[in-house]
Amino acid sequence: MSIWTDRHVTVVVSGGIASYKALTVIRLLMHEGAQVRVALTAHATEFITPLTFQTLTQQPVVTDEFTMTDPEHVVHVALADWTDVMLIVPATANLIAKMATGLADDAATTTILATTAPKYVVPAMNSHMFANPATTRNLGQLVSDGMTVLDPATGMLAEGYVGHGRLPEPPEIVAWLTSQLLAHETGLPLHGQRVLVTAGGTREMLDPVRYISNRSSGKMGYAIARVAREMGAKVTLISAQTALPRPEGITYIQVTTAAEMLSEVEQAFPTTDMLIMAAAVSDYRPAEMAAQKIKKQPNDHGLTLQLTETTDILKKLAGQKQAQFVIGFAAETQQLLSNATHKLTAKNLDLLVANDVSAPGVGFNGDTNQVTLLSQHHAAVTTELLSKEAIAQIVLETAIAQGAVGKA
Ligand code: PMT
Repeated sequence: MSIWTDRHVTVVVSGGIASYKALTVIRLLMHEGAQVRVALTAHATEFITPLTFQTLTQQPVVTDEFTMTDPEHVVHVALADWTDVMLIVPATANLIAKMATGLADDAATTTILATTAPKYVVPAMNSHMFANPATTRNLGQLVSDGMTVLDPATGMLAEGYVGHGRLPEPPEIVAWLTSQLLAHETGLPLHGQRVLVTAGGTREMLDPVRYISNRSSGKMGYAIARVAREMGAKVTLISAQTALPRPEGITYIQVTTAAEMLSEVEQAFPTTDMLIMAAAVSDYRPAEMAAQKIKKQPNDHGLTLQLTETTDILKKLAGQKQAQFVIGFAAETQQLLSNATHKLTAKNLDLLVANDVSAPGVGFNGDTNQVTLLSQHHAAVTTELLSKEAIAQIVLETAIAQGAVGKA
């Protein structure tokens, strides 16, 4: 049974070029089993007719006109009382401002004010309006009033230029809403999610006693695994050898080489909701592993090693993804953003966590990290230098905000 089965959802639609997308959001919620009713602002009715929503939901639609023609019945209050979950999509700057001040001058805003149900707000507007300090202040007010706000997407706006303020696509909105509802009800935003994390540096054996590896301690990946578990996920950690204790409450698989990691990730991937590749996987391995310890050369000509490329696990699995949300890391020592952006697109990732491992306290081995989060349709975010636990929290929260939960 879906979390939406028989759930009473009121969708408030305000007037913008993205108003039509509310129809798809409603259709998806109804498909999940929700009972949906709609309230429209007067501006919304300029973009799309009440009849369209009424036909889709098979329910009367609350507009001012409807309220006026039924004076015996306080329609918006009845709707507010009926509501289990309120979704405001799209929320224009104007409606957000009204909500922030508690204004109730039409049926839609009165319904919003009158309901005690949790409220989820999906802003969509011109990027300059979104960046305006008044809008930032108003959204901050909504959050401190207990509402939950989805960050808009970056993309082509109705004005013909790219900006941050676009309405995310309806499946992303429904996935986000589902995860928020789960979090609201269980207190755990990754409740029931299957999260697969890799950690540590793989070792590529040269001979029985020597290997090629890197400086990864596994701390970043282990922190992600622990935080994901605390957020309610069922976590599988595929770890290269590290000096760290096994985290409790997690399915733990130990590997040594990139090939072993590939095989384990491939096996777990089909039943995974989110893959996070924090491991530092060797890009090359010795073409052949010597059967015996390689002897020191008798002359002084040095030793030449023949290396072969390993499979790019992340790229391979991201190429096969269906509903999985795939997160990669990029460890860079130069041109962080351009190199990482290339990895984001070349590997078809949903989210990329880029760290400049040449900076003090960042990346390998220590207890802290500083990252830039990159995704295809959202603005880049750079964190402060924080503990790896705090970075893990930010990575997972960003993934959730970008629709990682509920995709399956
Ligand atoms: O373990 P710590 O000491 O805490 O250090 C953390 C870290 C620096 C290892 C971590 O923050 C990090 O950056 N992990 C990724 C390291 C890395 O291999 O980056 P890359 O830019 O070379 O690879 C890009 C992505 O492709 C990574 O997600 C990597 O896991 C993946 N990859 C790379 C090669 C390969 N053959 N297969 C892969 O899946």
